[in-house]
Amino acid sequence: MTKTDNASKALIDSLNRLLADYFALYLKTKSFHWHVAGPRFHDLHLLFDAQATELFALTDLIAERVRKNGGSTLTSIGAIAGRSRIADQDSAALSAEVMIAELAEDNRSLIAAVREAKALAGAAGDNATEGAADDWTDQAEQRVWFLTSLLG
Ligand SMILES: [Fe+2]
Repeated sequence: MTKTDNASKALIDSLNRLLADYFALYLKTKSFHWHVAGPRFHDLHLLFDAQATELFALTDLIAERVRKNGGSTLTSIGAIAGRSRIADQDSAALSAEVMIAELAEDNRSLIAAVREAKALAGAAGDNATEGAADDWTDQAEQRVWFLTSLLG
């Protein structure tokens, strides 16, 4: 393999892990939209839905960055489960505060994962991914800001 091939493969692997993270965090955020309860139900129900929509909207962009780099991308729930670094949360009875804190932490992890993909895009000469990653970071930072602001 040439140096370029290695850089491209590392980028493709990183983007596929990032895509798996987005799908996993999308579903967790949607689950919290469905299961949140308490005095702030209405606001949190809407906020979690807006954040889930934002996460889902990026999945197509990331998958197509993989294809434009010549790689294959995710094909199934199993492919997501094998790559995601976002821990499953199967409790439907968490307090709103625990949900908010967990999503904030997961979105911080996502920022680190985007940073990794951006660095590998730079190494591979993929300017489009490198530039787009700044928007992905900005969106995740906004989610962290909104979530942590709720914790007071
Ligand atoms: Fe809904």
